Amino acid sequence: MKILVTGGAGFIGTNFIRMILLNHPEHEIINLDKLTYAGNAENLLDLSDNPNYRFYVGDICQPDHVEPAIVGVDAVVHFAAESHVDRSIQDAAPFVVTNIFGTQLLLDFAREAKVSRFIYISSDQVGGSLLPGIYLRENSPVSPNNPYAASKAAAEHLVFVSYNIHQFPATIARLSSCYGPYQFPEKLIPLVIANTLEFKPLPVYGDGLHIRDWVYVEDACRAIYQILLKGKPGQIYNVGAHSEKTNLEIIKRILKLLDRPEKLITFISDRLGHDRRYGVDSGKIERELAWRSQIDFEEGLRRTIDWYLRNIEWLADTRSSSYREYYDSVYSSRFTVEPTKPEF
Ligand code: NAD
Ligand code: DAU
Repeated sequence: MKILVTGGAGFIGTNFIRMILLNHPEHEIINLDKLTYAGNAENLLDLSDNPNYRFYVGDICQPDHVEPAIVGVDAVVHFAAESHVDRSIQDAAPFVVTNIFGTQLLLDFAREAKVSRFIYISSDQVGGSLLPGIYLRENSPVSPNNPYAASKAAAEHLVFVSYNIHQFPATIARLSSCYGPYQFPEKLIPLVIANTLEFKPLPVYGDGLHIRDWVYVEDACRAIYQILLKGKPGQIYNVGAHSEKTNLEIIKRILKLLDRPEKLITFISDRLGHDRRYGVDSGKIERELAWRSQIDFEEGLRRTIDWYLRNIEWLADTRSSSYREYYDSVYSSRFTVEPTKPEF
C-alpha cells in the first residue's frame, strides 16, 4: 500500500511511521507535515534514505500542498492536528482551522484521488467527562468540553458525512491518552519527566485526581494498523488499554522510578473545563479486529523514561525559547495561587 500519513513528524505519527518502515517493507509512506512547534523532522532523519519513505513539508489546509502529496495514494492515515488542550484554551482558532477545515480539505482531496482507505485519528475527549463506571462506547453521544475536543468531534462528524453521502471509505480510530517516546514535553508525562530530571516543581492541576486511560504508543500504533487493514468503513473503533490512572498516581510513579522526592509535586489552579475522567470501552476492536494492548503501564512507563534518558538532547532541543515562553504563559501565574489541598 502507498500510505499518506499526515502529521507524521509529531508524537504518534512518528511512532506509526517508524513501525511501518521498520516492520512492513511492503508499504510506502508519504509523510505530509507542516512542522509546527510539535513536529520534529529529526525524529525520522535516520530513515530518510529508506526507499519506501518520502517527506513533504506542507500544510493540510493548503490545497497546493495536499494535491501533490495525495496523487496515487491508496490510503490516508490522518494524524495532523493541533493537539494540546491548554493551547486550545489560550487560542482556539488554530484548532478550528487545522482540525476541522484541514480535515475537510483532506477528505475532499482523498475522495477526488479515489483513495480506498481513510483513517481519521480521533480522541476519547470527544465524549467529555465520564462518571466512574461509565465507559465511552462507539455509539455514545459526544459532548466535548474544550476547544480541542470540540474540534475533534466536529471533524468526526465531517468524516461520517463524507461516508454517508459519498460512501467515502473513512473509518475513525478513537484513541485514549497515549504516552511513549517522541511525545512533546507540553503533555503530562514528558513534562513531568523533564521537570523531575531538573528538580523543578511538577505542576498538578486541581487536586490531581483526574483520570485518563493510558495506552502505550506502540500499542496504539498497532491498533491503527489493524484498523487500516481490517476496519470497516463508516465505523468508529475505540482504542484504550484498561489502564485508568489518576494524574497523581502517574507523577508519583515517575518520581519513584527516577528516585526523586515527592516534595516536587506542586498543586496549582485547575485547567478550565478540566474533564474529570475519560474511559473508553475498547471491546469492539478487541472482538472484531483481535487487537488488545500488550504493554502494561509499569512496563510502558519504564520504557518511556528510559527513552527520554537516552535522548536528553532531543528533550533539551524541544524545550527551546518558544517552549519556555509557552510554559510561562500557562504556568507562571498559577504557581503563585494558593495550592489546592489533595483529598486522599
Ligand atoms: P502532536 O501534536 O505531537 O503532532 C501533531 C503533528 O501534526 C505535528 O507534527 C505537527 O507539525 C503536525 N501538524 C499540525 N498542524 C498541521 C497542518 N496544518 N498541516 C500538516 N501538519 C500539521 O500530536 P499527537 O499527540 O501525535 O496526536 C496525533 C493525532 O492523534 C492528533 O490528531 C490528535 O488529536 C490525536 N490523538 C492524540 C492522542 C494523544 O494522547 N497524544 C490521543 C488521542 C488522539
Ligand atoms: O485523551 C486523549 C487526549 O489525551 C488527546 O486527544 C490529546 O491530544 C492529548 O493531549 C491528551 O489530552 P490531555 O488533556 O488528557 O493530556 P495532558 O497531557 O495535557 O494532560 C493529562 C492530564 O494531566 C490532564 O488531566 C491534565 C493534567 N495535567 C497536565 C499538564 C500538562 C497536569 O496536572 N499538569 C500539567 O502540567
